[in-house]
Amino acid sequence: MRIFSGVQPTGRKHLGNYIGAFVPHVASQDRGESIYCIVDLHATTVAYDPARLRSDVYDLQAVWMAAGLDPERCVLFRQSDVIEHSELQWLLNSVTAYGELSRMTQFKDKSGQQDFISAGIFNYPILMAADILLYRTDEVPVGDDQRQHVELSRDVAQRFNSRFGETFVVPEVVIRDVGARIMDLQTPERKMSTTGGTPAGTVYVTDDPAAILKKFRSAVTDSGREIRHSPEKAGISNLLEILAVVRGASIGELEREFEGAGYGDFKLAVGEAVVDYLTPVRERFATLRADEAGLEATLRRGAEKARAIAVETMAGVRAAMGVGPVR
Ligand code: TRP
Repeated sequence: MRIFSGVQPTGRKHLGNYIGAFVPHVASQDRGESIYCIVDLHATTVAYDPARLRSDVYDLQAVWMAAGLDPERCVLFRQSDVIEHSELQWLLNSVTAYGELSRMTQFKDKSGQQDFISAGIFNYPILMAADILLYRTDEVPVGDDQRQHVELSRDVAQRFNSRFGETFVVPEVVIRDVGARIMDLQTPERKMSTTGGTPAGTVYVTDDPAAILKKFRSAVTDSGREIRHSPEKAGISNLLEILAVVRGASIGELEREFEGAGYGDFKLAVGEAVVDYLTPVRERFATLRADEAGLEATLRRGAEKARAIAVETMAGVRAAMGVGPVR
């Protein structure tokens, strides 16, 4: 069983990313062969700062490892280190329809926000298909916003296989639900997000305890006084969800525990629990991030392991497509 997922090295990672993506990634190291990719090539499709990209890669790598990704037990690598991603992306262009790319909702959303709509942002889903298909991936864990892209990868794989012969594994999408529910503390109707959220309502993995407590103390609640999970109580429900995850408790247990408590005390209790949860992560992050040479060496070993698989897949692709010499 092979699992593949990619994360963009953009933006600081927040509690929603941590609970929704990084923690499940760590858990899946025990479920099968796990391959995790820092997709720096995807990050170049929109306006970005070249002077920061490399350091953003290390930031993501250090957060991922601080969460518990163990480079000895999984493959952790940087996309641009394995040039086969770019090669396969090009070859998959010919089995991807212009029309299907035009229908991608993320392209429509993202391109609307750009002054310069690059061909890269249009072709982004083909590079993502290349990432997945190169490793003959069985399962792709992603958030719901990436479902359409993984489905495109499936269509591309099937189309390739029927036109050129069985080459790719058709991957299954696995949508995560925890963490999909971590909402912005100031606008609890909306998901916690680096791009679409509020600064005061977004809790970053590397925030210090004082910053975390301040954000929870000023979290938006409602005019009632009951600590109860319900659709009319978005703020309180979100705080209960967060506390349930970080304490490993059920919502029902927490409702009973905080029965009769004031909102102020409850918000402080959630803040303190999040501080306890993130403090060891922040400390491990700081240690890892301080050693760029060590991080780079880890990426190099990861790329070697990734390339061993990628090269084999590409030999099959080239042979099937009639590209390059007979081997
Ligand atoms: N597009 C994904 C995102 O923005 C990142 C990604 C790139 C990815 N390649 C991937 C995710 C392959 C899963 C598999 O979240």
